[in-house]
Amino acid sequence: MKNVYGLTLKHIVDERGALVIAEMGSGMPFEMRRVYYISQVPGDVRRGFHAHRQLQQVLVCVSGSCKIDVDDGSVRETISVSGVGQAMYIGPYVWHEMFSFSEDCVLLVLADDVYNEEDYIRDYSAFVNEVALR
Ligand code: TYD
Repeated sequence: MKNVYGLTLKHIVDERGALVIAEMGSGMPFEMRRVYYISQVPGDVRRGFHAHRQLQQVLVCVSGSCKIDVDDGSVRETISVSGVGQAMYIGPYVWHEMFSFSEDCVLLVLADDVYNEEDYIRDYSAFVNEVALR
């Protein structure tokens, strides 16, 4: 699917544990301007339900696991996110919903811009219509 792909962040694992690095030139596809994380999500909750017009994000479970439905307006896929250094890139015009959060899940999101509600499309029909006009 366009604007969605898995990526592996630089990671160093040894007997002392795991070190994961999000750094330009070492796997990060853009310069970050915002970091946020989602945690303590009840197992039956779905979040997201939006797409962005411009924002690029990299999502990584720094603890636990979750699933993400990604949808380009015609095709929907489910992606599992877990594992040391394993991350998911989500770019513009990808409707996404996060679910199946494990109890210990901490979903870290690295974004290329600050929060801007005007960049959000929060209505699925509006999203499909806007995608069709592109
Ligand atoms: P929301 O988009 O509903 O979260 P999710 O995509 O995980 O379902 O965001 C929840 C609230 O937090 C909403 O009022 C917008 C606000 N918010 C910020 O103020 N800054 C941010 O960087 C983010 C991601 C959300």
